[in-house]
Amino acid sequence: MRIIITRDYDDLSRRAADYIGAQLILKPTSVLGLATGSTPIGTYQNLVAANKVQKINFAAVKTINLDEYQGLAPDHDQSYYYFMKKNLFDSVNIDPKNIHLPDGVAKDAQVECARYDQIINQLGPIDLQLLGLGANGHIGFNEPGTAFTTGTHLVGLTESTIEANARFFAQKSDVPRHAFTMGIGQIMRASKILLVVSGAGKAEILREAISGPVTPQVPATILQFHPDLTVIADQEAAKAFP
Ligand code: F6R
Repeated sequence: MRIIITRDYDDLSRRAADYIGAQLILKPTSVLGLATGSTPIGTYQNLVAANKVQKINFAAVKTINLDEYQGLAPDHDQSYYYFMKKNLFDSVNIDPKNIHLPDGVAKDAQVECARYDQIINQLGPIDLQLLGLGANGHIGFNEPGTAFTTGTHLVGLTESTIEANARFFAQKSDVPRHAFTMGIGQIMRASKILLVVSGAGKAEILREAISGPVTPQVPATILQFHPDLTVIADQEAAKAFP
């Protein structure tokens, strides 16, 4: 495990984008596993800027997102598809056919999970998986208690995740109760993982994730066993380190 502690969020975002940029330069056909949420927004902004000046090229890149809310269509402004288009895809030279997210409005959840597993198997292994850290230790939407071996599945979101994500919706009752997520087994099979964590509110859970007992109750603890994990945390997030 490599841990990089940055001055602040802007520095974190630059370092994370440099890490991903280096991956794209070394392997222009990379398969990137991508995350949504607040933390990677600055990383995406830096990637967009680097793409604009042609430092990095997305023409041959394929992306597989971690998750999507069940019930939200791609054009819903809180869907993860919409988030990705707004924050990255619409502003870089990626080919839309190389973008993959679970379909939030798929009629049959089981069929959708199987379809997504197949995409991950066909395109994988993921070269670089970007992750954020949930306040309860989730990665993707793999909530506490999820088996480490899972593939794509439909999850019931925990109260703490609904609470944490309510900030993006008009009211808490609008937050979908279920989501599709890539499984922990698939995340762990990525060749490299980059975990980005920002802010004092994540300090305790980050300490637990990287140095606590490995348990499905804190899904991110499994990352301790990944052979190529890089954690980029800002000073605030790193303040509970041993
Ligand atoms: C999003 C995702 C989630 C977030 C996590 C942290 O695709 O998979 O695991 O990474 O909830 O979210 P933020 O960055 O908003 O604190």
